[in-house]
Amino acid sequence: MATFDPRLYGARWADTYDEWHTGLMDDDGAVAALADFADGGPALEFGAGTGRLAVPLAERGVEVVGVDISPEMLAKLKEKSTEVTVVEGDMTTVSLEREFAVAFIAFNSIFVLESQEEQVELFRNAARHLRPGGRFVLETVVTKAPSADQGKLSVVKVEADRVTLAGGTTDQVTGNYTGMWMTFEPNGTKFFPLGGRSVTHHEMDLMAQLAGLAREDRWADWKGTPFGQKSELHVSIYRKP
Ligand SMILES: C[S@@+](CC[C@H](N)C(=O)[O-])C[C@H]1O[C@@H](n2cnc3c(N)ncnc32)[C@H](O)[C@@H]1O
Repeated sequence: MATFDPRLYGARWADTYDEWHTGLMDDDGAVAALADFADGGPALEFGAGTGRLAVPLAERGVEVVGVDISPEMLAKLKEKSTEVTVVEGDMTTVSLEREFAVAFIAFNSIFVLESQEEQVELFRNAARHLRPGGRFVLETVVTKAPSADQGKLSVVKVEADRVTLAGGTTDQVTGNYTGMWMTFEPNGTKFFPLGGRSVTHHEMDLMAQLAGLAREDRWADWKGTPFGQKSELHVSIYRKP
């Protein structure tokens, strides 16, 4: 049963998302790799959010369709660019009635889905939207067992007029996590909830098989560094036969 309304994410995060995420990830590397995968064809981003990748990808001349469940996040994307076609919808069920050269979901966004069933549905929906030979590319941190310090709050940032704290817990039985970022400012406290389900890269391989996709490669970053024992991140590339 769902415990976290996915629409809540965008409703709470949209205003500060770009401020907190700018420079956090390798946006340039991701856009370069995704443009290569598109190879002149169209690209589909699931959970496109405020367009961190969709906008620069479109600026490189790639036709990009971005799907997101949050009108607030998509409104921010539309303020930045009119080049991306935005579709408000659920990435597990949306049907665009066309095929893409590459579909992708970045920055742990598959983890926003609450159940294994929904995550498998995402793989199936990606496969439905790929042309033969097209690729589904996912980027996430490497999922490990819940750490011993889970449940503790950490200090994200201390500024003159704002302190940001974050914390969360993962349920070892279901794999579901519940998290919260909090800001304390002179004019009040704000809460930024997170929720979903972590997936290991091995489980993703199986989800891909269920969707009729085959793993082509796994990188440790967007530059194509081979995935290894110490990798903290993975970019997994699946191909439709
Ligand atoms: C972590 S943000 C990532 C945004 C963007 N891809 C990036 O890398 O900066 C996850 C996004 O997934 C969206 N989302 C959550 N559940 C969704 C669903 N079921 N279908 C489509 N989008 C969803 C949220 O609204 C949010 O914009």
